[in-house]
This record gives sequence, structure tokens and C-alpha cells, in this order.
Amino acid sequence: MLSGANRGIGAAIAERLAADGYRLSLGARRVDALADSAPDIGSDRVLLNYHEATDLDSARRWVDATINRFGRVDVLVNCAGIVDRTGLENMDENVLDDMWAVNVKGPLRLTRLALPHLRQSGSGRVINMASLSAKRVKGDAIVGYSMTKYALLALSHAIRQIGWDDGIRVTAVCPGPVATDMMDPDDETITQPEDVADLVATMIALPNTASVSELLVNCRLDAWA
Ligand SMILES: NC(=O)c1ccc[n+]([C@@H]2O[C@H](COP(=O)([O-])OP(=O)(O)OC[C@H]3O[C@@H](n4cnc5c(N)ncnc54)[C@H](OP(=O)(O)O)[C@@H]3O)[C@@H](O)[C@H]2O)c1
Repeated sequence: MLSGANRGIGAAIAERLAADGYRLSLGARRVDALADSAPDIGSDRVLLNYHEATDLDSARRWVDATINRFGRVDVLVNCAGIVDRTGLENMDENVLDDMWAVNVKGPLRLTRLALPHLRQSGSGRVINMASLSAKRVKGDAIVGYSMTKYALLALSHAIRQIGWDDGIRVTAVCPGPVATDMMDPDDETITQPEDVADLVATMIALPNTASVSELLVNCRLDAWA
């Protein structure tokens, strides 16, 4: 299961996992966009789902549809996310609430719903697309976003603790700037979505005995992380 699958890093992960032979249950709030972007691997290997991260019912329906179709969930990749660039003093609390809902509560809900199936897998994987903004606060530009990504990191460690004995391994992927709509899709000097997708594929494929809890990805020297 992969959220935010229709564009950016999520779309690159979908392509990479499709090439690796996985069956994909993709989530997006615009299923028409998802139909356009989804890897062309045939309907027996890919299931397209409506997923609005702020809507618990859509998460429930997505997990149920995945089980109905594939009978299992081995991997959950929480990639959907939003950013607001207002600083501390001017931050609109409603915008902070929106980021909290999408960046933190969205992954929390999907994890809780998928957890029984990930446990059953014996080698379940959860990948949370955090950020270097989950590791350090750099100036005043994205304070609210950073708060939500720190929270997502906390959630990642919590899942790791409770799922470990059942073979669940969790990685919080923490990239700096990545060339998507969130930054600049044409910027070749920053990390490319395909590179993040390669790292995610590696994290998923590692055995239970080689788990990476946090993966920090730099495109330039960062004094803090
Ligand atoms: N790009 C970066 O520099 C960077 C760096 C570190 C971490 N990240 C993280 O990486 C993840 C992917 O970001 P990206 O760079 O690929 O950004 P993006 O190109 O803007 O894509 C964001 C994705 O999240 C989805 N999304 C947004 N709000 C949603 C909602 N309410 N319900 C369901 N899906 C929703 C979007 O769907 P729609 O198409 O419907 O809007 C889209 O698929 C995010 O969690 C982001 O915080 C990005």
C-alpha cells in the first residue's frame, strides 16, 4: 500500500516497486490522476484506490479493498504529505491543523488499520516519508511542517517498538529537498524522486535482521543533519 502515489516521490516509488515485481495497492485522492500515472503492469498487479488522508473512512475502505483483492498487506508506504512555508509568528493554525491531519494522522490511521495484516506477514514493512525537517529546525521557514515531521518520526519509532517482535520493520526516510512539485521538479542539483524510490526499495527488501530506523538523505552539506 502506497499513499500519495499519483505524483512526486510516491509516483516514483510506484514505478520502482512495479519494476521490482511487487503487487501494488495505490492510494490517491484523485483516482483519475492515479489512473494516468500508475505503472502499466496490468490490472492483476495494481489496484487503484481513493484515499483522502483526512478521511478515516477512505483509509478503512482502502485497507479492506486491498485485503479483498490481494489477501495481504506486506508493506505500507506513507508518502502523502503537504507543506506550508509560513513562519512561526504568522503561522495560520488552520494550516497547521491541515498539515497535522495529512502528515501525521493520515499515516497513523493507515498504520493502525494495516497493523494486523503487517503482523501476519512476519516481515511487514512500514516506510514513513519524513524529512530532514524531522531531524533539525533550520530557520523560520517551515516550522509547522517540521513539527509534523518530528511527530511522524515519533510515530515511526513507536510502530517499530510495538511491531518488532512480529517482524515489522520501520524506516523513517528523511530526505532534504527533492525535485518534485513541493520544491522544483526541474532542479537537477537536488535529490531526484527516483533516487528516493531506490532507497525505499532497498529498505523494504532488507531482511528482518538488517533494519534501518532512520535514513537521512542529503543533496548538499547540511550543518545540522
Ligand atoms: N519534495 C521534497 O523536497 C520533500 C523532502 C522531504 C520529504 N518530502 C515528503 O515526501 C512526501 C511526498 O512529497 P512530494 O515531494 O512527492 O510532494 P508532491 O509532489 O507535492 O506530492 C504530494 C502527494 O501527497 C498527496 N496528498 C496531499 N494531500 C493529500 C491528502 N489530503 N490526501 C491524500 N493525499 C494527499 C498529493 O496528492 P494530490 O496530487 O491529490 O495533491 C501527492 O500525491 C511528503 O510527505 C513530503 O513531505 C518531500
